[in-house]
Amino acid sequence: MSPASGTRAITNATLATCVGGRYGLLERGAVAIAGERIAWVGHSDALPALPRDTERLDVAGALVTPALTDCHTHLVFAGSRAREFERRVEGASYEDIARAGGGILATVRATREAGEEALLALAVARARALLAEGVTTIEVKSGYGLDLENELKLLRVARRVGQSLPVTVHTTLLAAHTVPPEHAGRADDYVDLVVEDILPAAAAEGLVDSVDAFCERIAFSPSQVRRIFERARQLGLPVRLHAEQLSDSRGAALAASFGALSADHLEHLHEDGAVAMARAGTVAVLLPGAFFFLRESRPPPVGLLRRHGVPIAVASDFNPGSSPLLSLRLAMLMGCTLFGLTPAEALAGVTVHACTALGLGAERGTLEPGKLADLVVWDASHPAELVAQFGTDRPRLILRRGQPVG
Ligand code: NIG
Ligand code: FE
Repeated sequence: MSPASGTRAITNATLATCVGGRYGLLERGAVAIAGERIAWVGHSDALPALPRDTERLDVAGALVTPALTDCHTHLVFAGSRAREFERRVEGASYEDIARAGGGILATVRATREAGEEALLALAVARARALLAEGVTTIEVKSGYGLDLENELKLLRVARRVGQSLPVTVHTTLLAAHTVPPEHAGRADDYVDLVVEDILPAAAAEGLVDSVDAFCERIAFSPSQVRRIFERARQLGLPVRLHAEQLSDSRGAALAASFGALSADHLEHLHEDGAVAMARAGTVAVLLPGAFFFLRESRPPPVGLLRRHGVPIAVASDFNPGSSPLLSLRLAMLMGCTLFGLTPAEALAGVTVHACTALGLGAERGTLEPGKLADLVVWDASHPAELVAQFGTDRPRLILRRGQPVG
């Protein structure tokens, strides 16, 4: 039950505010919450006078952070690609399998056959697993429908996930994920369909918060991506891009030239791409789950991103083919062990910078007055503990918009 005044105060906390992308540690800190928003952050001793019925929670030194944001997932799909994994372990590459009609297209076949309710049940179960580890904001891409009816079906399911659970869903249209079988060998015709039909229809239904594409030699060329981004711009929609995952297609610079919210993967990023991203404020979303599961050997150039001041986010990339990783906490750890991020960068990468990557930075991602009161009290006393351990669920309390979850 909420207090009548809607006011809560968490006191005696170790706060990691994440302001400025640093831990922003404050010992013996307190957060006052009025309704949905953070009203005050400071030292427990300095807590201002609050209404008498304020619900007070002394957390005895426990860590409090902003709730986590998973800013890159492919949460809505049916079927399994475990047999592909067997083939990859025996030597086939991800690209070989895709060229032979497997990969993303295998999931497209299973997903087209699945009804909306079945897809929703699968997606809600996945989102619930993320929520259990403190994730209250999730980006969800389409991309396994690849025709008008099925792309809209996936986006509707994504929106319904946000109505079924206390999570905020940012929907991304990824119709340009790969060329569907009915357009095999005619990628430009499929891009026409995306630009003329799928994108405007999805936007008209209010189903699109941003537009993504897969820029890669097994998917779409920079000039095809450009056409999609131009249409998105006409419709007033922000863009993001799967860029430089398997090869250098100069996708990051293209994305930056459209002021993209993010460019994601980036294993093959070069310096000019990093410079363009820094200028445009495009967030680098690193996806260690895909790097790990595809057994890649070339990590993204973290030093280059740091040198040019590109904000770095970390996400699960949860999907059936390249990153069946349903844990943002493990993605944080892998960001450190595989890519050399510091735990502070990993935490910033799932809070403040992840929210910027979704265009939600003004409302979420740090503990600051005025922001939404999405936060987590952890069974931990220092943020490094959130990273340097895996296989554990440690939220003691999750608040979303000021209300306890669960
Ligand atoms: O982010 N790179 C493209 N898309 C996904 C993979 C999707 C799949 O294999 O089903 C990714 O890794
Ligand atoms: Fe992805």
